[in-house]
Amino acid sequence: MDERLGRRAFLGAAGGGAALLAGCTGSRAPRSADPTAAATPAWWRAQSHGPGQHALKPLPYATDALVLPEAKLRGISAQTVAWHHDRHQAGYVKALNGIELDVEQLSTIAPDSADETFGDLKRRETFNASGVVLHEIYWDRLTPGGAPRSADMNVVGKLAADFGSFERWREEFVGTAGTPSNGWAILALTPHDRRLHNYACSMHELGGVWGAAPLLALDVWEHAYYHDYGPDRAAYIESWFRLVNWPAVEAAFLAAARSL
Ligand SMILES: [Fe+2]
Repeated sequence: MDERLGRRAFLGAAGGGAALLAGCTGSRAPRSADPTAAATPAWWRAQSHGPGQHALKPLPYATDALVLPEAKLRGISAQTVAWHHDRHQAGYVKALNGIELDVEQLSTIAPDSADETFGDLKRRETFNASGVVLHEIYWDRLTPGGAPRSADMNVVGKLAADFGSFERWREEFVGTAGTPSNGWAILALTPHDRRLHNYACSMHELGGVWGAAPLLALDVWEHAYYHDYGPDRAAYIESWFRLVNWPAVEAAFLAAARSL
């Protein structure tokens, strides 16, 4: 690539993703009315976008939909959901977009000990990108009132097989989330050993395992529960479990398992 060209200019000069793919495979992109149609899969055309164009994914329910009627297990308040989604998650999206544009517009990339600008941008990019991904999973695996698991779910059977029992998995997951230094507890299917694992992330990007597919993500940053539960993180975790959408976890597990 001509180093004087920015990334976007390069994509434009090269004819977009199709030409980029053709360059990867050593073949020339076929001519057609839509030059990307023959060379790129449908999911790429539908979901891929340029730098700085991430959007805040809307909540799949109203902000007051995660309130539970019980006095002790009272779910997640509308105020917490609104702050969490509209302020915190939106902040990660905005920051990620800004960082991507900043990186794109750097005239030179020459990291050294005297100039941490580029290194700092890349560190903050991974932090905010991971924050966006994890928060989307967090909301998507919850549903108003919760949706129960059933014994015939593949993910339930795999949890029992990998942890000894569902209850043992739950105990380990709760312990992971309850450890004060952890910011997330994440159930993931890891292709390396084809097993389910509970991983602990301190920051969004610290603690992930490459290739592992996150199926369930429990946010235990204080912004997720302090307004509703104060320091009683355990009560929040128990309440959160009541809201889990197990059919959605099953769907995520099946999708991940098919890719193994
Ligand atoms: Fe959060």
